Amino acid sequence: MNIVIIGQGAIGLLWYHHLAKSSKNAVSLFCSSRTTFIPSHYGFTDINLQSDELALTVADNAAFTDAELILICVKSYQVKAVIEALKSKISAHVIIVFCHNGMGACHNLADLQQSCLTLLTTHGCKINSPFHAQHTGLGHCDLGSIHGKISPLMRANITSTLEQALPTLTFTNDIKTKQWLKLAINCVINPLTAVENIDNGQLLDERFTPIITELISEIITVAVYEDVKFNFDELQEKIMQVAKNTAKNCSSMRSDMLQQRKTEIDYINGYIVSLAKKSGIPVPKNEKLVQLVKALSQVD
Ligand code: PAF
Repeated sequence: MNIVIIGQGAIGLLWYHHLAKSSKNAVSLFCSSRTTFIPSHYGFTDINLQSDELALTVADNAAFTDAELILICVKSYQVKAVIEALKSKISAHVIIVFCHNGMGACHNLADLQQSCLTLLTTHGCKINSPFHAQHTGLGHCDLGSIHGKISPLMRANITSTLEQALPTLTFTNDIKTKQWLKLAINCVINPLTAVENIDNGQLLDERFTPIITELISEIITVAVYEDVKFNFDELQEKIMQVAKNTAKNCSSMRSDMLQQRKTEIDYINGYIVSLAKKSGIPVPKNEKLVQLVKALSQVD
């Protein structure tokens, strides 16, 4: 399959690395326009701490024209600009897959003729240095349709291509619930690890139980207004399981903050706060975390 991956962050390189391994795929990477130097090789440290330097194929205009699948692995606040830039250079039949944290970034898809999917992951991955990613925690991926129609054949083809590259992966017809589950995971893990400057696993310490409990309760209340129902104990267990599986991981929000980059807080806890406002629901803990992250990150 002809695949273009947009974004050289941790998730972009994770997918590039795994998809490029198969001779059935022609994979190229499109880097952010702010990148001053694109190396001929990238580094990858796998889950068993095995490191490799591998050739990097950079996407040119022909790669975009020929692409059957485009994976957009950029930050949620960059999604809108990427969609606009893509419109003039891709075929009407290409399938676009969004792989970013948070919700609310894909609200301008209505006039897009291409079909779009979203890919949610609980894999832990980090950037050790520019163009060197490390896979730090095994996870699962869920794929689902968010815009337009996709033929059963194409759907099966994309699912098996992605599943073979990075198992396990499931195509789901109920992507909304999965998006909310991922949102809830990010609403708890990301801001708390960022504000406290701790690894994900440290959230298992019982001093965090009260704040985690309150955050989850607020998220469940807001989710009900979006027709998504969670059981408190099940949701809490799932969130703590991700914290455990990615125990040594530095969350993406903490990394952004440490590197003085803009965070995705507006699309994570900020998304909960904006929905809550519309429905008149108080969400003080989520609101407080949005304020704290913004105050500490300086660039938000
Ligand atoms: O944003 C992140 O860091 C990741 O989505 C997750 C799953 C919380 C692991 O660090």
